[in-house]
Amino acid sequence: MKILVTGALGQLGTWIRRLTAGNNHYIFTDITPAENVLTLDITNGTEVQSFVRNNNIGLIVNCAAYTNVEKAEDDAETCFRINRDGPANLAQAMASVGGTLIHISTDYVFSGKNDSRPLLEEDCAEPLGIYGKSKLAAEEAIRDSGCKYLIFRTAWLYSEFGRNFVKTMMSLMKEGKAIKVVNDQWGSPTYARDLAEAIVQIISSGKSSVDSGIWHFTDEGAITWFDFAKEISAIGEYASCSITPCSTKEYPTKAARPAYSVLDKSKFKRTFDSEIPQWRESLKKCMDNIREWKI
Ligand SMILES: NC(=O)c1ccc[n+]([C@@H]2O[C@H](COP(=O)([O-])OP(=O)(O)OC[C@H]3O[C@@H](n4cnc5c(N)ncnc54)[C@H](OP(=O)(O)O)[C@@H]3O)[C@@H](O)[C@H]2O)c1
Repeated sequence: MKILVTGALGQLGTWIRRLTAGNNHYIFTDITPAENVLTLDITNGTEVQSFVRNNNIGLIVNCAAYTNVEKAEDDAETCFRINRDGPANLAQAMASVGGTLIHISTDYVFSGKNDSRPLLEEDCAEPLGIYGKSKLAAEEAIRDSGCKYLIFRTAWLYSEFGRNFVKTMMSLMKEGKAIKVVNDQWGSPTYARDLAEAIVQIISSGKSSVDSGIWHFTDEGAITWFDFAKEISAIGEYASCSITPCSTKEYPTKAARPAYSVLDKSKFKRTFDSEIPQWRESLKKCMDNIREWKI
């Protein structure tokens, strides 16, 4: 039985590829081909079915997604095709061979209007924007498919690869730009490597055989985007850069974002008997790599 990782060129997919290098149980695909990455468009249900059968796939880790939260507001059709219909195709393919789908969802399924405590898996999902709605629709489609599934909701993902908040801040700070960052949206930054390690560990230890369900996984800690930017500046020692806090109202975006989307990870730690890294330590590791690898 082989393990298929879709969206293998993205932040999370790249870390799963790096962590499993040399393990020939894994097959990697993305929408565009690359070295050791085959082409598979998850929105093409027929192709997904035949890929699964031809390659004896028994488990899929779906890292493919439409992740541009702002652009999604203007292109709901593409966003839903990739984020809802794609995972539905993968789930149906797993249902037809008795396999398991590991799928990644988001804190943006929540409205974030209640900040009294970190959010539990069973709390009411009420997404504010198109991206969150498409990801919630995927969760529902996967549940309805009848396949065995593990859905991990994560948040504020960053890494050495692709575009993300950490890399954007680092380049603005290097240029000595004055930066305003929102200080009234709370969440937990998550290093893609930490989530990738957790997933690889769950698979290699056989814990992916647990009953289907949803789990929350982010790095430990709860901060605002402003706190996050300040720490990036401190670790990077960007002395000449000024960072000022602002409110969401002062920094309007097309997509509304949850004000408080800190996820409670107790269920994850209990089920998988796992410890989760602190956001600050992980940020340092990632920034060290970005500088060392000159990315
Ligand atoms: N990024 C975050 O802050 C964040 C937060 C919470 C949850 N998540 C979730 O975490 C997961 C991983 O996120 P990420 O940041 O690693 O995503 P990412 O870097 O945007 O990677 C997604 C990958 O999927 C590919 N893809 C797009 N359409 C596809 C299709 N039709 N078929 C196959 N592949 C396709 C993308 O290719 P192109 O780049 O060419 O489009 C890209 O390589 C996603 O499910 C995301 O929704 C992310």
